[in-house]
Amino acid sequence: MENDLVIPQHIAIIMDGNGRWAAKRSLERCEGHRMGAEALKNLIESMKDLPGVKYMSFYAFSTENWKRSEEEVSALMHLLVEFLDANLALFMENDLKLLVTGRLEGMPEEPRIKLKEAVNKTKDNQGPCVIIALNYGGRSEIADAAKAIARKVAKGELDAESIDEKLFAEYLYNPQVPDPDLLIRTSGELRLSNFLLWEISYSEIYVTDTLWPDFDKNELMEAIKAFNKRSRRFGGR
Ligand code: FPP
Repeated sequence: MENDLVIPQHIAIIMDGNGRWAAKRSLERCEGHRMGAEALKNLIESMKDLPGVKYMSFYAFSTENWKRSEEEVSALMHLLVEFLDANLALFMENDLKLLVTGRLEGMPEEPRIKLKEAVNKTKDNQGPCVIIALNYGGRSEIADAAKAIARKVAKGELDAESIDEKLFAEYLYNPQVPDPDLLIRTSGELRLSNFLLWEISYSEIYVTDTLWPDFDKNELMEAIKAFNKRSRRFGGR
């Protein structure tokens, strides 16, 4: 790895283009997702070669993705279970911690239980953190935080006047995770698709035409190099 690069501590990725990857090869969409899961595994494995990256967030299933066909939703859920079964050892060997962001309670029972087990098994690992967004929506996250705050105010446990950005952020799904420095989207679409709306306020955005199943460590390095050319001012000068 290039020595003089600033490595973003939190990289968030919108993994897009599995369907197009499959269509280009006249395969079923689910085959694209299968290869997407493989790309995800390879990237997680490569985190050991990227010291400095402390968190990676991956958008795997949005609150809107339930609108896809029953067949595709069920294939994705099945793939998630397989992914957890096949890769828990990888998390343990590499000392990686798994976190989930999203409305976990709205997930089907089998993946929900597997996710809870994997999060629990890796909770004392000291290495980088992999965050998988499932049944996740940025607006839902903000609404859920607002609801939790409103309940406290109603119970008299919180003074409404004390609500500011810092306090609000403490009610997001993973308040201990710093905001992403870099947001990557594959497959060329210029959209945020309801991902981490609060947290990406000052993230640098990098879009590549590469379809997710083809995204690898070299592509990630290209994104990190592009990130190094940006001048981050956070609204200042
Ligand atoms: C977007 O591609 C991808 C998804 C909606 C799902 C992301 C899932 C994976 C990368 C694999 C499985 C993940 C886990 C955690 C096992 P798309 O279907 O929207 O592609 P398209 O825009 O080309 O149709």
